[in-house]
Amino acid sequence: MSEASNAVPAGGGAAGRAARAAQRRALASKYALLPLRLFLGVTFVYAALDKLSDAHFLAGAGDPASFVSQTQAAKAGGSPISFLLGPALDHPTLFALAVAFGELAVGLGTLLGLWGRVAALGGALLNLSLWLTVSWSVSPYYLGNDLAYLMAWTPLLLAGTPYLSVDGYLARRAGRDRARGLGEDHVKRRALVDGGIAAVAIGGAGLLTGSLTRTFGRDKSAEAKQSAVPQQPAAPASGAPASGAPASGAPASAPAVPAASVPVGGSAQVKDPATGDAVYIVQPKAGQYCAFSAVCTHSGCAVDAPKNGQLYCPCHGSRFDAATGAVVNGPAVKPLPRYAVSKDGDRLTLGPQQS
Ligand code: FES
Repeated sequence: MSEASNAVPAGGGAAGRAARAAQRRALASKYALLPLRLFLGVTFVYAALDKLSDAHFLAGAGDPASFVSQTQAAKAGGSPISFLLGPALDHPTLFALAVAFGELAVGLGTLLGLWGRVAALGGALLNLSLWLTVSWSVSPYYLGNDLAYLMAWTPLLLAGTPYLSVDGYLARRAGRDRARGLGEDHVKRRALVDGGIAAVAIGGAGLLTGSLTRTFGRDKSAEAKQSAVPQQPAAPASGAPASGAPASGAPASAPAVPAASVPVGGSAQVKDPATGDAVYIVQPKAGQYCAFSAVCTHSGCAVDAPKNGQLYCPCHGSRFDAATGAVVNGPAVKPLPRYAVSKDGDRLTLGPQQS
């Protein structure tokens, strides 16, 4: 269509207003996918950097927020692709990093509009695999956000990223090359090579950003590990009982932490020796210690450590009271399982599950 045919009749007559309205609608249609593209791109970059800097994501199986724990939970929860999860459980660090860097590549490709359909396909495949694993047991199905993300990628998969994008620039330049009479093979090769160079440059920048984020996160991870790993009581120097020995009735292997590691309003994470599930020992009020399973009763996601008197589940937003474990906000309907905690000197020892 020529520029002349796009011209809007001047003046304030009905024809002029109608033409201007049509032009606005055409402009809105042209950029209709831009908000979705920005949202998905920013979200994937954010999710990737969040994972890479998260103290828990690359932690071991004892941490409910770790990649390996969530993969194990998906497998135990009846994921239809559980037969594919074996390699991920055999090499959890490799797969966890692949997920994080994959999200980063998808996010940057989407934001910059470089090979937009390929990026959208990558995003759709990531969300498909997450839907079939971590979101599979979510009920009703529409609360599983990975399914919504999977659907959100579909328009970009169909339309690509032709506007305000590297793809758009390459397409316009290819058009100019054709107009100059260059052969189709030459035009395509040039677009492919330049797209590849841009992909390598953006990929390198993403890799550097991700690695720096990971390096920064590793320091936090070490700190978190130190505070989260249950510390066993020191061996007695003589035949006298150790001050940190488990309280009466608790098995010798019962996890224990220094009381100082559980400030008022804070928590320390230990592991239920019977199930391997993570448990938060909390102190909601001064001198009041209790412990709750870190496994959300809605669909088994890991709840966050207590903050402002509540434990929050990032999967679907359930909130639990940090003093009682009761549901504050659904979709969970059952309280968090509670454990006994005993205090002996300066140590807190996890007791058996009570509910
Ligand atoms: Fe759905 Fe926790 S798993 S709210």
